Amino acid sequence: MIKIAVLCSGGDCQGMNACIQTIVNMASVHGIMVMGVRRGYQGLMENDFVELTRESVANIGHLGGCFLKVARSEEFKKPEGVKLGHDNLVKNRIDYLIVIGGNGSYRGAIELSELGTKVIAIPGTIDNDLFYTDRTLGFDTAVNNAVSTIDNIRQTMEANDRGFIAEVMGRECGHIALNVAAAVGAHSCAVKEVPVEISDVVSDVKQCLSKGIKSPVVVISEACEFTANDVKEAIEKECGIECRSSVVGYVQRGGAPSVMDRLLAIQSGVMAIELIYKGIYNVALGIRNNNVFYMKLDEVYELDNEFNKVLYRQLRNLHNLK
Ligand code: F6P
Repeated sequence: MIKIAVLCSGGDCQGMNACIQTIVNMASVHGIMVMGVRRGYQGLMENDFVELTRESVANIGHLGGCFLKVARSEEFKKPEGVKLGHDNLVKNRIDYLIVIGGNGSYRGAIELSELGTKVIAIPGTIDNDLFYTDRTLGFDTAVNNAVSTIDNIRQTMEANDRGFIAEVMGRECGHIALNVAAAVGAHSCAVKEVPVEISDVVSDVKQCLSKGIKSPVVVISEACEFTANDVKEAIEKECGIECRSSVVGYVQRGGAPSVMDRLLAIQSGVMAIELIYKGIYNVALGIRNNNVFYMKLDEVYELDNEFNKVLYRQLRNLHNLK
């Protein structure tokens, strides 16, 4: 009997539970035994395995968070940590390991594969910072959550003729910020991929105010060198309007996965087990043009950040900004 393990590492994201559930259900179709590793690579080093069955995962697919829990492990960044993890997989007679996670988790997965672990990697992070795939699990839900939070705040801002500056997550990557900004029709958007100063944001806001906008909205990414509060103070000083700022925060990472994230989770989970059943490993799954695909795990970092400059430009055109 084939025996596999699944772990989620790094930050949790919406769709991890749906993916675990699919893996377990699909594995049972093929008579494959599934062990869950609690708390990602940290649990792997601590030999924290639990058997997963159709029953144990029956009611998790619609939930955010992570049923197996996640951890950010400093110890696993050391070669001794990776070796310990690999040894525990051997000790538990695990034939294949499925890793669901983001950038850091993929580095861990590649290091395990170099020691002989047979790995399948599934992209799971709200940040969408694995550039070989159009989307990662959690990204779509995180964008939707941020949009609905900004929509709510905007109503009270408009009632008071105030400007609003929202800071969104994404680590070093501006994909969440850009998509949120476009979806709310923000009057200025600051991301690391397009170098901007606070004075550029102030200038955008000034131009919009001159066209009669009373309650401008600015979206910035957490990777910017300035904070939402810095922008608020600069706009109040330079433009003479009252503003409020908010860090949208962890609301982005919680709540039920969107349909897009559930579909990605289900398609990836099914493909992962099909690949294992065919004996294919050391691959990363992704989605391109709405089709799930796989590629060699050690080639995922060969693709650069394709920041959507067209969408960025369209958003500026919408407000007639240079
Ligand atoms: O990687 C996901 C993410 O939510 C980032 O967007 C954010 O910078 C980070 O995790 C927050 O990490 P933590 O949960 O450790 O505070």
